Amino acid sequence: MQIKDSIQIGAKYIQEGKLVAFPTETVYGLGADALNPFAVAKIFELKERPTFDPLIVHIANLNDLQRLVLQPDDRIYKLAERFWPGPLTMVLPKSTLVPDIVTSGLPTVGIRMPANQIALDLISASKCPIAAPSANKFGRISPTTAQHVRKQLPNVDHIIDGGKTTVGIESTIIRLTNSGFQMLRSGVITQEELEAVIPFDKSRKTEEMVAPGMLKSHYSPKKRMLIASKNTLLNINKSKAGLISFTGELDEGFTNIIRVSTQNDLRDYAVQLFEAMHTFEDDNQIETIIAEEVSETGIGKAIMDRLRKAEYSWRKG
Ligand code: TXA
Ligand code: MG
Repeated sequence: MQIKDSIQIGAKYIQEGKLVAFPTETVYGLGADALNPFAVAKIFELKERPTFDPLIVHIANLNDLQRLVLQPDDRIYKLAERFWPGPLTMVLPKSTLVPDIVTSGLPTVGIRMPANQIALDLISASKCPIAAPSANKFGRISPTTAQHVRKQLPNVDHIIDGGKTTVGIESTIIRLTNSGFQMLRSGVITQEELEAVIPFDKSRKTEEMVAPGMLKSHYSPKKRMLIASKNTLLNINKSKAGLISFTGELDEGFTNIIRVSTQNDLRDYAVQLFEAMHTFEDDNQIETIIAEEVSETGIGKAIMDRLRKAEYSWRKG
């Protein structure tokens, strides 16, 4: 099917209150008409997602921002001008137009304009903002291809296949306060880049402000996943392990290696990470997934956040 036709079908389904999986630049989203609470309820059902975990609303133009948000101020437009379309979600006071089910009853709504033409065309053709979480089962590995969506959500009404996503990990989420912004989730747009536009609000520790739905365990493969440490490497059977390799320094002794970057670029790690996890999850020869650690600066922060959450329940168990 031509991509244009697939988008048209998707838009028709969204208008009918059905669910449509679609690509964004970060990961695939599971979309519904954000203004239709019955359609949004189906997202929680299909994903098996707890209703305390609010959804991000995707828009294709700034007029929608005005309808969804209470009195957007200049700072929001400055950020939008610099980072939208792109992988930045802003949590802002919501207007009455946004149904409570979208925000899990919170007075704020997370909004972003994705940098993916298929996503933008779908939103425009649907003539409504689209609420969409990542298109995976709750707590599992996020999808960066249409196949990943099919694997976890075979019953979705329609999937628009736009190939592999170009950023690979979810958007950076911030919240605006009186004195600046606070980070709720790290992503490829870093705190430093945001600070160049508006001040960072240091008034509260980030750990105290975890966004709802930001649980310790997430992105979890069905088989054991561990971040590589000296101890881990000594205690595993390397022939039955899959290594997600960044620098190549840990490769010795492994036979199953996915090298995520050839030039030590953390952006490549972000693009390849979830796909590598899916590949090893699907490989019956592999018992354990090992991921190389990176230093926690810039995009490294977002990568380590995903790795820690992916290994969380396995490290404990
Ligand atoms: O890149 C992305 O952001 C992808 C694509 C599809 O756009 N979406 C995504 O959605 O990652 P999801 O549902 O997997 O993660 C959304 C997270 C929620 O778990 C919650 O922590 C936070 O966004 N969030 C949403 N609305 C919020 C609000 N009003 N206040 C605080 N946090 C919020
Ligand atoms: Mg998610």
